[in-house]
Amino acid sequence: MSQQARARVGAPIPLAQGWSDERFERVAGVAFAVAGLVFPPNRQPSAESAMRRVMREQHLDDPSALLRAVQQPGESRDALLAALTVGESYFFRESGALSVLEREIVDTRRAAARQGEPIRIWSAGCATGEEPYTLAMLLRELGVQGDVSILGTDISRPRLDAAGRGRYTQWSLRGVSPERVTRWFRPHGKHFLVDDGIRDSVRFEVLNLVSDQYPSSHNGTADQDLILCRNVLIYFDLPTVAQIAAQLLRALRPDGWLLLGASDPPLVDLVDCRMFMTPSGAVYQRADAEPRVQTPRAPWLATPVVLDFPTPDDTREIPPAPFTTAPAPAHEPIRYVSISTSTVGEAYARGDYRAAADQAERSIERGADDVPHWIVWIRSLANAGDLERAGEVMSAAIDRHRMEPELHYLQGMLLLEGRSVAEGARAARRAIYLDRDFVMGYMLLGDALSRLADDLGARRAFENALRLLERGTLGATVVAADGVSPERLRQIAADRLRTLGTAQ
Ligand SMILES: C[S@@+](CC[C@H](N)C(=O)[O-])C[C@H]1O[C@@H](n2cnc3c(N)ncnc32)[C@H](O)[C@@H]1O
Repeated sequence: MSQQARARVGAPIPLAQGWSDERFERVAGVAFAVAGLVFPPNRQPSAESAMRRVMREQHLDDPSALLRAVQQPGESRDALLAALTVGESYFFRESGALSVLEREIVDTRRAAARQGEPIRIWSAGCATGEEPYTLAMLLRELGVQGDVSILGTDISRPRLDAAGRGRYTQWSLRGVSPERVTRWFRPHGKHFLVDDGIRDSVRFEVLNLVSDQYPSSHNGTADQDLILCRNVLIYFDLPTVAQIAAQLLRALRPDGWLLLGASDPPLVDLVDCRMFMTPSGAVYQRADAEPRVQTPRAPWLATPVVLDFPTPDDTREIPPAPFTTAPAPAHEPIRYVSISTSTVGEAYARGDYRAAADQAERSIERGADDVPHWIVWIRSLANAGDLERAGEVMSAAIDRHRMEPELHYLQGMLLLEGRSVAEGARAARRAIYLDRDFVMGYMLLGDALSRLADDLGARRAFENALRLLERGTLGATVVAADGVSPERLRQIAADRLRTLGTAQ
């Protein structure tokens, strides 16, 4: 969306960048030296607010005290690393990608496991343990018996302590079917306890991926059949990613698999490896892995090609909404909740976007899982200039609330802001597909299409917005319009049609 158009139809997104004090930059230097974490300018404001949080929690008076405290190993450093990384995880996350476990590992290694040769699985960067426990559950469901070793490692000791307790809130179970909740968890007050057998089958260890502690048979990180390192490499610069990837590939058995997350950087240009694409992310093998004999089961493995694991998640692109010349048909109204009605909305309304983002994040971590909290979090991050983090949170929000039109609309705004105009148009279409009366979805689509020089499409979009506005059924406020009145939106849509040269 152009600056001019954004000023007219959306929230202002001022770009705050950089450190406010060079001592925070030096703390970031420690985080890089210790754990390889990097902070591009647009992530520095949110990193700085995380550092300030650690100062408060650790009773450190100023950034100099923080710097001194994190220069040696200990509680303050652990707290800093945990605050600078996201420990977000949940059970059966992107479980479509895990079918590599069934297709390629369990079937070929089941007999060996029965004869006492262990199947080895490692979740590297496992946060609070949801991922390795999921693997243990899947193996049980696949009927694997015998010697299986599942290792979960992370740099954050507090997260691993939580993993060992095996106690979770409903929030960590958001990807789990009710049958699986019954099978693998025991309710305990407001919490859910992982089945004892599952808990005992996973070993947790602190391990910094930016170190030479692996692969090693001493800590059980060598000869792995499967390594999951999902949503971890996003924190590092490319030389660090290359170093970690090379070590992880060396930690595999010759025919083992390395699985990354859908948003992790691709490894092919960084290290010698074989890469296969799945709808849920890339999977890798060592460059010297034995080329597979073609079988009817897995013909795609003979050469590195795009492969098509069946995925239980619905990751299909939602088709674009057909444009109509008739008014959109009536349907069940969709319930939106306005930002101003939520408690975290107060800081947002004051324009204190850092505080609003922090409050929304904390509420979500404590189990609030409603769309307004997600929207405040995303908009606040964007308004504070942290578009990258806003994009990450957006993915998590859509993962959770896939059918929510306002989130797709917001995603479109961010994509346009990041100059991914075609992607932004697709997101706007998804929003409209989910809500045929979504005025701001049409406005956004019109903006995107006019930037793509699709004047005809843009004209249809603005006409649809105008038609909806003129129906007069929207009331005084328009969803996601940030308080801009229907009357003003009508003028904007009419202006846009005029500048497209075809207003009627
Ligand atoms: C978003 S979580 C990923 C959890 C899980 N893999 C998933 O995808 O659901 C990222 C984890 O990476 C960990 N991490 C960050 N830097 C690390 C490092 N240098 N070594 C090991 N773990 C690290 C963080 O502590 C955090 O728990």
